[in-house]
Amino acid sequence: MSRIAYVNGRYLPLAHASVNIEDRGYQFSDGVYEVCEVRGGRLVDERRHIERLQRSLSELRIAMPMTPESLGAVLHEVVRRNRVRWGIVYLQITRGVARRDHAFPPPGTRPSVVVTARNLDFATAERLAGEGVAVISVPDNRWDRVDIKSVSLLPNVLAKQTAREQGAREAWFVDRQGFVTEGSSSNAWIVTRNGTVVTRQVDNAILKGITRTVVLDIIAAQGLKLDIRPFTMEEAQQAREAFITSASQTVMPVVKIDSRPVGNGAPGLIASALRRDFYRFAEIS
Ligand code: PDD
Repeated sequence: MSRIAYVNGRYLPLAHASVNIEDRGYQFSDGVYEVCEVRGGRLVDERRHIERLQRSLSELRIAMPMTPESLGAVLHEVVRRNRVRWGIVYLQITRGVARRDHAFPPPGTRPSVVVTARNLDFATAERLAGEGVAVISVPDNRWDRVDIKSVSLLPNVLAKQTAREQGAREAWFVDRQGFVTEGSSSNAWIVTRNGTVVTRQVDNAILKGITRTVVLDIIAAQGLKLDIRPFTMEEAQQAREAFITSASQTVMPVVKIDSRPVGNGAPGLIASALRRDFYRFAEIS
């Protein structure tokens, strides 16, 4: 079955889906994106993803090109046309097509909208969650507005590649003060020896993950101990558990940090429980 993409109002086979080479996403990575999990053909936390998209757009002064309702309809339609049962839907909006000039294009330039969707390998994801994954640390060399979900991801790309080359699944960015900010495509968490869940506060230095928000709801509902603060790599290596969160992997236990085992080297009880309970707290539409 050939995959279908939505490009500026049309549903096209992937081989024919393209954008203009003067698109500002291509020229300047002048655009934003969202990744939403698809489960049983439905969207997980669509409302929150669209809200975050609107915030990213407004921070970059790109106009929302259609209503949230119409955008939602496109997301569902791309999922349907690609027969995605479990996977992701990807949405990208750029400042549009204009002759190359760093400053904003003329008023009235229409933002470009692209949506794709694909199935992920459920068995592999479950196996990874059962075994836990390894993370490595890299210096955080990103700009100071990574709260905006922009498609400008070069440091993240390089960090992820470094992780892969070292046999790890994720790279954790460490800031100049020695604190972990977040992963290259996930938020970072630990559980201390006394059972307190720790994750960094949201500000301009991390993305406010939708999965993170839902996990905080679960933690509150279950009365787990929580400390919203930064943690260092040393603290993470001494922790009882560690895990990462993102739309495509919900809660993924971390069992190794910079080659040292976390806790007893197996996925932690709290991480596994949060993963198990996730869909009771997420919004499915
Ligand atoms: N990444 N931090 C970064 C840098 C991310 O790129 C992501 C998501 C997250 C987690 O956010 P959420 O829980 O809303 O997915 C945190 C997506 C999945 C990606 O780039 O593919």
